[in-house]
Amino acid sequence: MSDERKYQSGFGNEFATEAIVGALPQGQNSPQKPPLGLYAEQFSGTAFTSPRAINRRSWMYRTRPSVLHKPFQPISNNLLRTAPIDEVIAPPNQLRWSPIPFPLEQTDFVDSLITMGACGNAAMQSGTGIHIYAANASMQDRFFYNADGEMLIVPELGRLRFHTEMGIIDVAPGEICVLPRGLRFRVELLEEKARGYICENYGAFFRLPELGPIGANGLANARDFQTPVAAYEDREGSFQLIAKFGGNLFAAEINYSPLNVVAWHGNYAPYKYDLAHFNTINTVSYDHPDPSIFTVLTSPSDTPGTANVDFVIFPPRWMVAEHTFRPPYFHRNVMSEFMGLVFGQYDAKAAQDQAGGFVPGGASLHNCMSGHGPDATSFEMASQAELKPHYIADTLAFMFETRLVIHPTTFALNTEALQNDYWQCWQGLQKVVVPEVD
Ligand SMILES: [Fe+2]
Repeated sequence: MSDERKYQSGFGNEFATEAIVGALPQGQNSPQKPPLGLYAEQFSGTAFTSPRAINRRSWMYRTRPSVLHKPFQPISNNLLRTAPIDEVIAPPNQLRWSPIPFPLEQTDFVDSLITMGACGNAAMQSGTGIHIYAANASMQDRFFYNADGEMLIVPELGRLRFHTEMGIIDVAPGEICVLPRGLRFRVELLEEKARGYICENYGAFFRLPELGPIGANGLANARDFQTPVAAYEDREGSFQLIAKFGGNLFAAEINYSPLNVVAWHGNYAPYKYDLAHFNTINTVSYDHPDPSIFTVLTSPSDTPGTANVDFVIFPPRWMVAEHTFRPPYFHRNVMSEFMGLVFGQYDAKAAQDQAGGFVPGGASLHNCMSGHGPDATSFEMASQAELKPHYIADTLAFMFETRLVIHPTTFALNTEALQNDYWQCWQGLQKVVVPEVD
């Protein structure tokens, strides 16, 4: 295949793709003898009986079925954790981290995974795990799948190439990709180092939010999502298949590449999305809409309007509100907010401050009902700013927002990257002296 990667457009479409012409059966899913003698295998992402609109499954046609490997044995989880996390008490403090440093040794994507926090319960298919990857080596002879959740990848540094069962996806900072639960893949680094954020979604798969009164268009448009065309590896050798299952990692010997799907069709597949395509909608009169207006993808819970987790971005955009404090307001939220910064500066926080600032590769966590908002400097500046139209350029922050309390890991609360002085950024806010009442 040439370096020009090929994709199919759309979100949750019934895709059909073959790396060899004629490999896809016509008219049925599992013929007695599929074309080329390939094995037919169904890959189910939802219960067989899920309503049609949210039913996800694909049919793969492969040179060996996925059952072929030796038994799994437990391996170290390293710093990867899974909800429920009870290794440490979750404090209600505002938390912020500087970028997690790269390892000194050669470390691939899977070995580099570090969990910052998690919520809910993976076994109950509820909540999310929030991880950082900071890798400096490619996965060559190792393959990975995650039975606990789908993985939304937000690169911050370095381009990645995901070689998956269903094709190849290249992603760069400014783009995201989503790897469905169970999909086997390996990660190649296209640059020396790669770092970014992962939302491991244990719950209902990510989908586009409803648009309500916005109408038929806006936010992330379905046509801008890209799913790879079929591509397969014909490799024999001594390989390792790693599974994340029930919160633990396991490895099995496998003597061929499991990325051996020659053709597939269906609507359960990985995809990528360039966040620059997001159609940002915001106020054109006054006040600051809730950040839900910036939702790219949502994983609904069983309670209408209350997400298991939302993926929200703060992209470049015009600010035109009149008579308004334009940056995010002071607030407390029943939902919990984990934020990261891909590049640029976030409008509610100074890039650098005494504690270290909110910088690309860093993160913050404002848990359920923990007060937060602009730091004293940003508050002062925005309160005095002349309110002419202003373009916030070259910035990309994001939020994983969940209805469930996010429990930080022991690592997150003990790493040197934790900014212990974060609370200081608000200490310059002055008391308002009101007139005495007679
Ligand atoms: Fe917030």
